[in-house]
Amino acid sequence: MAELGHTVIAVDSDAGKVESLSRGVAPMFEPGLDELLAVVLPTGRLRFTTDYAQAANADVHFICVGTPQRRGENAADTSFVFAAAQSLAPHLSGKALVVGKSTVPVGTAARLRDRLQQGAPSGVGVRLAWNPEFLREGFAIRDTVAPNRFVYGVQGPSADADVALLDEVYASPLASGTPRLVTDFATAELVKVAANAFLATKISFINAMAEVCEAAGADVVQLADALGHDDRIGRKFLNAGVGFGGGCLPKDIRAFMARACELGADEALGFLREIDAINVRRRSRMVDLAREQCGGTLAGRRVAVLGAAFKPDSDDIRDSPALDVAEAARQEGAVVTVHDPKAIEAARLVHPELAYADTVEGACMGANVVLHLTEWKQFREIDPAALAAVVANPLIIDGRNTLDPARWRSAGWVYRALGRPTV
Ligand code: UDX
Repeated sequence: MAELGHTVIAVDSDAGKVESLSRGVAPMFEPGLDELLAVVLPTGRLRFTTDYAQAANADVHFICVGTPQRRGENAADTSFVFAAAQSLAPHLSGKALVVGKSTVPVGTAARLRDRLQQGAPSGVGVRLAWNPEFLREGFAIRDTVAPNRFVYGVQGPSADADVALLDEVYASPLASGTPRLVTDFATAELVKVAANAFLATKISFINAMAEVCEAAGADVVQLADALGHDDRIGRKFLNAGVGFGGGCLPKDIRAFMARACELGADEALGFLREIDAINVRRRSRMVDLAREQCGGTLAGRRVAVLGAAFKPDSDDIRDSPALDVAEAARQEGAVVTVHDPKAIEAARLVHPELAYADTVEGACMGANVVLHLTEWKQFREIDPAALAAVVANPLIIDGRNTLDPARWRSAGWVYRALGRPTV
């Protein structure tokens, strides 16, 4: 927002994050974010604080807090959204617009407006819009500054004024032709979860095809390439492998099913249970294949895991397929060493029982099998011949189907992958 020319006060309850951001250091790895902070902080248009009162004069208040999966349940935990709203409400003025960005169960916006109204100073009529973001980690800046669409969920007497104010906020991307759709609250809330459900479905579809390919001796990568040429289908999100993880897709499809159930529409989303099951199965299939290739047991085997983040260009390890596989192998008695270009620190905090190495070679030293589980560019650039000299067995299982099988095989490796023929 500051990059777009606005004056921004960012409020967070975590004093550590506020302090670090104020120094220009992002609390997580996102390509270009530290550089962007270095450009924007000296302009004075961006400040960080833990004090809601400092945001009292803002024209627009974005609520961007997380909605993680509730422990032991499928439903989303919206308590952070309501807590932020409760802290903000006493500081609202009549002209201010509150804008929800968080991914929430449909129906939350209407409840939130009531809650904001209860907490607002008397005489202040609360204005709320729902404006989901669709940013991908690793592309967060581009997806924010130049998204592929805007969705404004507006309702009530201020709806037209709310649209006009959001148009002012997003004037620059709108001027470059970004489409914008105006809907009611419920539709705007649903767009986000429906989009993620569709993406998850696409990935699980191709992973189901990978299972069939394995049984039939076919090649899922060629299958995806051929399907992708049909532009009604498209090649994006048809990369088969260990499946989707992260803080969004897995928990969003579960929260979506839980909410549909509350609404009495559970049958409509029954297929998402299967999407989730296919996805989870990919992780155990990876462990099965590693065990099988290691002579029927992982006990005592040295396993190198390349990747800890749930996707490349991120240090986010939430629901990471790579760490799930690493942990499952360790539980079967394997000696597991993990390497990731950015996520080792985060992984070590959550999985202190795993061993970590700062380099690919360090992780692969003496390995009986190498598992490629997060498709960092650096891993595609590995020299297979040089790595063969470091491992005990030149055996690699490509859980992301992004390494070149011919290159690895010609350097003497046994290359195996999910959904691809043995030779
Ligand atoms: C996702 C949505 O893409 C984004 O629009 C939304 O705002 C938030 O959730 P993100 O969680 O950053 O973004 O990751 P995404 O790029 O969607 O990937 C999710 C997972 O799917 C990753 O683990 C990735 O490795 C996996 N994936 C993706 C596949 O297994 N195959 C694919 O073809 C694509």
